[in-house]
Amino acid sequence: MSVPYQIKSIEQYQADYKKSIEEPEAFWASIAEHFVWKRKCLPAGEAGKNVLNWNFKEPKIEWFAGATLNITENCIDRHLADKGEQAAIIWEPNHPDERVRVVTYNRLHKRVCQFAQVLKNNGVKKGDRVCIYMGMVPELAYAVLGCARIGAIHSVIFGGFSAQSIADRLEDAQAEFIVTCDGAYRGDKVIPLKSVIDDALIGNKVVKKVIVYTRTRTPVSMLKGRDIWWEDEMDHAETQLEQQGGIHFPAEEMDAEDPLFILYTSGSTGKPKGVVHTSAGYMLWTNYTFLNVFQYKPGQIHFCTADIGWITGHSYIVYGPLSAGATSLMFEGVPTFPDAGRFWDIVDKHQVNILYTAPTAIRSLMSFGLEPLQGKDLSSLKVLGTVGEPINEEAWNWYDENIGKKKCPIVDTWWQTETGGCLISNLAGITPSRPGWATLPMPGISPKLVDENGNDSPEDEDGLTKGNLVIDKPWPGILRTTWGDHERCRTNYFATYENLYFTGDGAIKDENGFYRITGRVDDVLNVSGHRIGTAEVENAINMHSGVVESAVVGYPHEIKGQGIYAFVIDNNLHGDEELTRKDILQTVSRVIGPIAKPDKIQFVKGLPKTRSGKIMRRILRKIAEGETENLGDTTTLLDPNVVDEIKNGKL
Ligand code: WT7
Repeated sequence: MSVPYQIKSIEQYQADYKKSIEEPEAFWASIAEHFVWKRKCLPAGEAGKNVLNWNFKEPKIEWFAGATLNITENCIDRHLADKGEQAAIIWEPNHPDERVRVVTYNRLHKRVCQFAQVLKNNGVKKGDRVCIYMGMVPELAYAVLGCARIGAIHSVIFGGFSAQSIADRLEDAQAEFIVTCDGAYRGDKVIPLKSVIDDALIGNKVVKKVIVYTRTRTPVSMLKGRDIWWEDEMDHAETQLEQQGGIHFPAEEMDAEDPLFILYTSGSTGKPKGVVHTSAGYMLWTNYTFLNVFQYKPGQIHFCTADIGWITGHSYIVYGPLSAGATSLMFEGVPTFPDAGRFWDIVDKHQVNILYTAPTAIRSLMSFGLEPLQGKDLSSLKVLGTVGEPINEEAWNWYDENIGKKKCPIVDTWWQTETGGCLISNLAGITPSRPGWATLPMPGISPKLVDENGNDSPEDEDGLTKGNLVIDKPWPGILRTTWGDHERCRTNYFATYENLYFTGDGAIKDENGFYRITGRVDDVLNVSGHRIGTAEVENAINMHSGVVESAVVGYPHEIKGQGIYAFVIDNNLHGDEELTRKDILQTVSRVIGPIAKPDKIQFVKGLPKTRSGKIMRRILRKIAEGETENLGDTTTLLDPNVVDEIKNGKL
């Protein structure tokens, strides 16, 4: 059965785009008809019951407020009649010798209902925050959906974050419940997740229960009264539900605007913020973009290589594909274990149709040459996708030639944690692609390019427009707030320019209206497709006792896209630079996590500061990029001599 709102031609894209901008309420209301509601949205016009209520001033954004639903009925129950025995999730383990798990929609329904019952048995109620810190096992999907089933707000934390980071997030969200694993496999490593949670919980008085799933049989400490085993709880819930007449847990009735989840992400300040997405708008947006960008067809297998700890996994492993009744392939491992042919083995073994990955992964696999591709059948592939950072032409061409064999459209999907799903991307095989360009906005998205003052950027004589990327209307998947601090949401995204959502990215538009994203214009780095704030890394470095001050910038890195370059003033008490360097790395690992470790640490005597004491990062950025001549105006520096010293000591 084809989906009526799946765009089938460029003409339809243009027509739908036009309608979505001129009549957004009618456009999205007609798409909303194709979902399962408990109480439908009242017709527009009735007091307070419009499809969309919004202003970017506060901001206040509501889609379908007053309508009620449960996202899990849309992701699971509605598929049971005709797709009950179809695979919802195919799970590929870390090691290829281990058994693949196929989770049908029937099985998914059963497990999610059981887990919802487990949550209920442990006192979880609608609106409670549940922190999920697990590896990439199907149980992670059950946990996420089990929360949604009961109306609890999940907050998934990526397994690469440290105990300190978890503690901060637990505190911010006031989470009372945690779901974790004993450990997680990542290539040849075992990450002791429960032990990290134990450290995060030292001094925590809010968390009541920790549910632990056994994956690695890593020894764990289980605190009486607080820590409980997933397996025992699931068995108990199963018996209980069976006694009540069968494995079914009634889905909680949620308002369209009730929060679905919190996901923490870095910004230009030192503290990560909890981006909040709500039920109906997020569901519509992930479903609509999944079906249109990837042009998913019934029966296809969709393989998104992201981790569910990031927004890409939330939207394109769990909610987008499952709401569309798709088969989503979930992979536990890393691209290079046991060897660099891992992705291609998976594509071959499962006859994957859609592969969605990050430029950093492509570049890393490229560096192994073509040998890992030998004997791998990639002919099942129909669509390729990339996300997370700008893709360089070399990587694009390699992907196109060697993976897609020049037969698969590549979608370059630009979006953010805050946007819920893709905002600018070509539609596979429908709208044109262009290497390095995300191309056209999705229906519902009206981007603009503005200068520092918020004025529309002018078109230059080559037909190009350059500026800061903003969006002037809400779409269903836009963030609604930052958890516990709405003002922060306003100042971060809606205050730079009046009545505009500011993305933090710079972009170029050509005469066809195609967009090319050029990168962040704020103090946020993009390392291997993951966002890291420079202030956050500096705070972590400064916590080391040997450090007086530091400044962190990004520099071009062949594999990671951007690497982290730290300029550090140390107090010279120990004199052993190598040791201090290692100590700093250890400190950053402890404070944020291994993902934030600087690639380079240069010890300096001073930092380039203005007379008012502000670090001129522009200069440091140039030096880190290898520029020595054109450093721009340095006359306003307090001590211009430090620049030479830094230049001479460059790593
Ligand atoms: C930032 C968002 C979207 C999920 C993964 C990252 C950069 C993302 C692209 C792309 C160029 C991209 C932007 C954006 N970015 N996709 N296709 N081309 N840049 O999510 O951690 O929220 O980071 O990633 O700079 O602002 P995130």
